Amino acid sequence: MGIVAIVGTLLLMCAIAHTSVAFTEGLLPNGNFEQGPARSELNGTQVTSRTAIPSWEISGYVEYIESGHKQGDMLLVVPEGSYAVRLGNEASIKQRVKVAGGLRYSLTFSAARTCAQAEQLNVSASGQSGVLAMQTMYSSNGWDSYAWAWIAKSDDVDVIIHNPGVTDDPACGPLIDSVAMKALYPPKPTNKNLLKNGDFEEGPYILPNTSWGVLIPSNTVDDHCPIPGWMVESLKAVKYLDSAHFSVPKGRRAVELLAGKESALSQVIRTVPGRSYVLSFSVGDAKNACMGSLMVEAYAARDSLKVAYDSKGTGGFKRAALRFRATSARTRIVFWSSYYNTRSDDLSSLCGPVLDDVAVLSVRSPKRL
Ligand SMILES: *[C@@H]1O[C@H](CO)[C@@H](O)[C@H](O)[C@H]1NC(C)=O
Ligand SMILES: *[C@@H]1O[C@H](CO)[C@@H](O)[C@H](O)[C@H]1NC(C)=O
Ligand SMILES: *[C@@H]1O[C@H](CO)[C@@H](O)[C@H](O)[C@H]1NC(C)=O
Repeated sequence: MGIVAIVGTLLLMCAIAHTSVAFTEGLLPNGNFEQGPARSELNGTQVTSRTAIPSWEISGYVEYIESGHKQGDMLLVVPEGSYAVRLGNEASIKQRVKVAGGLRYSLTFSAARTCAQAEQLNVSASGQSGVLAMQTMYSSNGWDSYAWAWIAKSDDVDVIIHNPGVTDDPACGPLIDSVAMKALYPPKPTNKNLLKNGDFEEGPYILPNTSWGVLIPSNTVDDHCPIPGWMVESLKAVKYLDSAHFSVPKGRRAVELLAGKESALSQVIRTVPGRSYVLSFSVGDAKNACMGSLMVEAYAARDSLKVAYDSKGTGGFKRAALRFRATSARTRIVFWSSYYNTRSDDLSSLCGPVLDDVAVLSVRSPKRL
């Protein structure tokens, strides 16, 4: 074999090595933990070897929990399949994922608290991290799904979920299930809409078998919002909804403003000072037993609008429009819910108005309103 042939073979091998496809969308390999450790790598529920759970690497006190496992008088249930993991104090799970360097990704996973105290999870990838607070429950069955987004700095990234907690009881600590990922493609503004992603169609992966949406944390923990174009500005999360499980005004996705003025959603757009614009949007209810008086407040430049929506909890929406005059080259559009609402079926889960189909258009003749 000549040198050319050897070099050719090497080049071919390199080409093959580089054609392994970057992850695009869905559960990570063994992302629902249905493949578990061998008996010999378990002591009770405790996983005793670092690589015992296929596709994952663990560190610290990690338990492998079967649905129906009893803890005190609490029966632990698992949202997907029959198994989940529990992260004890300072424990973590990690998986190396093939991605496309430079792209933005969002991670979605489900988590449940097992003890009463506040719990947090630190998620990280490519040197970026966010601490997600779990102290407020938003769903009635104990499980919530969370999204967190980051920019891949290389083609191989370690995605880590870590429990930074230090509680007295090692059997406390959150349960984790259904870890999924999705590449995000930030949409551009068009001549039909100066806002990006106004219909919220681009966003994090929603686990098809979960019926409680995905919580989008505030930007204080997440520099890259999992809903491209938008920012969650205040302390509390907003919820990302799918039309398979909720009433959504347009398309397949919308957001629910969950926590009154503590969960504001905003976007900064380019404007021409002095020019008039119309901000239009849909306000409704998600068909999730969020009943009574809902109200969305919209702000743009010096103008604002309050839109009341009387919810029967059965789905539906109405359109609203705010005419505003830009005062600078950039205008911040902000939405929040005026009230704290709770679901009528459990009286404890926060809920709120649905926002969708948001558009800003320049208007020629500035009518006096
Ligand atoms: C299993 O766990 C128990 C309690 O934590 C411990 O006492 C025991 O030594 C462990 N067994 C093995 C084989 O590591
Ligand atoms: C979260 O994890 C990242 C990466 O492991 C680490 O750099 C960061 O300090 C952690 N943050 C907290 C608050 O523990
Ligand atoms: C969703 O649930 C159905 C029925 O329980 C099951 O067949 C399917 O595999 C589940 N999908 C995922 C992604 O787990």
